[in-house]
Amino acid sequence: MSQQIICTVSDLVVNSGVCALVEVHGEQKQVALFYLPETEQKLYALDNWDPLGNANVLSRGIVGSVGDELVVASPLYKQHFSLSTGDCIEADASVSVYPARISGAHVVLGA
Ligand code: FES
Repeated sequence: MSQQIICTVSDLVVNSGVCALVEVHGEQKQVALFYLPETEQKLYALDNWDPLGNANVLSRGIVGSVGDELVVASPLYKQHFSLSTGDCIEADASVSVYPARISGAHVVLGA
């Protein structure tokens, strides 16, 4: 994925998720962005698509932790997805994660 500026830091919500429509490999895709300024990585980007609930909802999930793992709980069936790997804790499922970072006032997706 090539780097693209997708929004500004002011579009993010602290300790919560927002959704961005981006182009990945020529296809439009919803990406869930989680801004956790007190963590080392600060910004996490995952598919917005919940493969178990079959809906674009992960950006609306509640962020928390399971053990040492930062996760988002899907608002549909409450499965937890790791913010760093995209793996589901309770089921054999995963979502894609994307490199994301803050550069000045901008949010950059891709590497
Ligand atoms: S060009 Fe798509 S992942 Fe790198």
